[in-house]
Amino acid sequence: MTVDMTTRYLGLELASPIMPSASPVTGDIDHILALVEAGAPAIVLPSLFEEQIEHDAMAVHFGLELGAEGFSEAPSGYLPSLNNYNTGPEEYLKLVQRARAEARVPVIASLNGVSSGGWTLYARVLADEGVDGLELNIYKIAADVEMSSADVELAYLRLVETVRKAVDVPLAVKVGPYFSAMASMARRLAEAGADGLVIFNRFYQPDIDLSTLGVTPNLTLSTSAELRLVLRWLAILHGRVETDLAATTGIHQGDDAVKAILAGADVVMMASALLRQGPKALTTVQQGLEGWLEENGYESVAQARGSLSQRSVSDPSAFERSNYMKTLTSYVPSW
Ligand SMILES: Cc1cc2nc3c(=O)[nH]c(=O)nc-3n(C[C@H](O)[C@H](O)[C@H](O)COP(=O)(O)O)c2cc1C
Repeated sequence: MTVDMTTRYLGLELASPIMPSASPVTGDIDHILALVEAGAPAIVLPSLFEEQIEHDAMAVHFGLELGAEGFSEAPSGYLPSLNNYNTGPEEYLKLVQRARAEARVPVIASLNGVSSGGWTLYARVLADEGVDGLELNIYKIAADVEMSSADVELAYLRLVETVRKAVDVPLAVKVGPYFSAMASMARRLAEAGADGLVIFNRFYQPDIDLSTLGVTPNLTLSTSAELRLVLRWLAILHGRVETDLAATTGIHQGDDAVKAILAGADVVMMASALLRQGPKALTTVQQGLEGWLEENGYESVAQARGSLSQRSVSDPSAFERSNYMKTLTSYVPSW
């Protein structure tokens, strides 16, 4: 028996659900081609960060694309001139063009922006390049004591709505898990126009270096243990929100991908394992998933998807609070 590994994500028909997420491994054409060779059915490019874009370049694009009078964030009185037109993040656009021309799989571009003007502008530029999808990577630490959770949520929703209005390409939104009401937030992101939710963004925690007494960025790659948070929310959201679900964080082995699919993921994304081991990690995970499905009598990924979501399991509370008490009370000290 062969297992039908196809899946749909952002309206794209994909040969399998295991794909690279945004990271340096999708940041140049050679790595991209190696990933496609290893079986990647689609690619998410690294994010284009608004901070990487020169302010002037943005202003020029902004005036040209949207019309200064047409948008509240437009610099007032700005008159675009084609003479000093600057395409801005040229390297990124070149990567998009090469990936689209050579990769033979759908290419999803990623944007990380702060102002809604910046997001809208570059969403349009990338859509014009013909990307197959856009991922908005929203990374915000709500450190402002004057800003309530409702304010933060509204800012996310406005951003998604604004980009949704500006472009027709399928839109995925990558968020972190730190919302007081994740399920409601997921539903509202879908209503705001997200076709897919990528859960979860992995925030990097700064460390304190005791020798320099400085605060240092500290990038540690993930382990499979971090998948649990993602599993819980995939399982809760599957069948309850009108978006596709992409799992990111903690996918290292075939079994991790199996769990994500059973919980309800439409696609399963990898970064840390690819950074550590190269493209073969993607093949291994894909084969692990296929092998498990075959051994356990599944005909397709679609048949397995969500079969252990909260709506499908016999004890739905396992994904909520009752698990908490059971877990704590069942722990026995080893000494
Ligand atoms: C070095 C590095 C760079 C990354 N760059 C981006 C990025 O540009 N945009 C983005 O949305 N996520 C980025 N990520 C996050 C990954 O796409 C992924 O969501 C995260 O690492 C969790 O998946 P993993 O456990 O497979 O690593 C990056 C991760 C790493 C390790």
